[in-house]
Amino acid sequence: MSVIMLKDIAMPKEFEVSHKFTAQELEEDSRLFDQAKEAILKHDALLIAHYYTHPTIQRLAEETGGFIGDSLEMARVGMESPKKTIVVAGVRFMGESAKILSPEKTVLMPDMSAECSLDLCCKGSELKRMKEAHPNATVVAYANTSAEVKAMSDWIVTSSTAVELGKYLKARGEEILWVPDRHLGGYIADNSESTVYTWPGRCIVHDSFEAAAIAQQKKDMPDAKLLVHPESPADVVALADKVGSTSQLLAFTKTDSAKTYIVATERGIFYKMKQANPDKNFVEAAVAQRAEMPLDNAECPWMALNSLGKIISALESTGAERDKHTIEVADDVRVNALKPLDRLLRFAEALKKGDLPNDL
Ligand code: 13P
Ligand code: SF4
Repeated sequence: MSVIMLKDIAMPKEFEVSHKFTAQELEEDSRLFDQAKEAILKHDALLIAHYYTHPTIQRLAEETGGFIGDSLEMARVGMESPKKTIVVAGVRFMGESAKILSPEKTVLMPDMSAECSLDLCCKGSELKRMKEAHPNATVVAYANTSAEVKAMSDWIVTSSTAVELGKYLKARGEEILWVPDRHLGGYIADNSESTVYTWPGRCIVHDSFEAAAIAQQKKDMPDAKLLVHPESPADVVALADKVGSTSQLLAFTKTDSAKTYIVATERGIFYKMKQANPDKNFVEAAVAQRAEMPLDNAECPWMALNSLGKIISALESTGAERDKHTIEVADDVRVNALKPLDRLLRFAEALKKGDLPNDL
């Protein structure tokens, strides 16, 4: 295997976000719970929430017959649901994926400025340049990318399928041009024996986990197991007892016998981990203060833009206000992005069945 970091790529030097839940917002969200529930039922909408959203939003999804899951599951559930209105509580690429897979549905987002640092690290114009520089490589994009980048890619993966796709492409003799997460790119190369040209992007949340401080946490809690999302730095991954996507980490806590876990992923996941394991303890893994994006804990500032008040606005507004919440993807982009997204769903399905054809 080898990993080659791509150079001279224009990326944001810093990210201008500072949103954290305030006590006032959290109080407001609890107060609006019944109203939000009514709005969802009245509009016959399906609320699909990522594990990283605030517990109140996840509870709202549970109480309205909605869905909580990882990025792959969110895409599939939106497509398979008979509902005509889907509310995606997460970040923009998740809303775009839902719209690409279900163009006939209305896909609403509480806050359209909910970005993702990975998505922001990869512009279509830069990818075009890198594709020209590596014309023989297979372009594999993480789901955390814009519709435009997806439309330029051969494959899309989520963290639950990335290593398996690396192995699959290695067996076909293909080299990978990977966008945009540097850490996941390295993880794919390490675990699949593939040659990976990796983009230097990063998730500001997972990139903040700090190996030395986490090693100390492990010493202090010798019986605890460390769970790590592969968007984290390699030295943090190296300490892990289990590496996986959000769903895979959650599933692990349900079958594993440990009583305490140190968790290196976004803190919204604690809601489902605690709910599934009321007798176990979950501790947040330590983060470092990074100059360009100081975080004092692993809370995604863009996921934190989702709120119940905004879910109500998305559903109840009309005209120009409604447009501010409605995901649209240009037809040409959508048609091209659908191919690798559909391939992702077929790949994930074949993987689950243990029956991978070599011509997907
Ligand atoms: P998964 O939910 O697929 O593990 O991805 C995490 C993520 O990056 C969401 O922002
Ligand atoms: Fe993007 Fe990281 Fe936030 Fe997920 S946690 S949305 S990868 S910035």
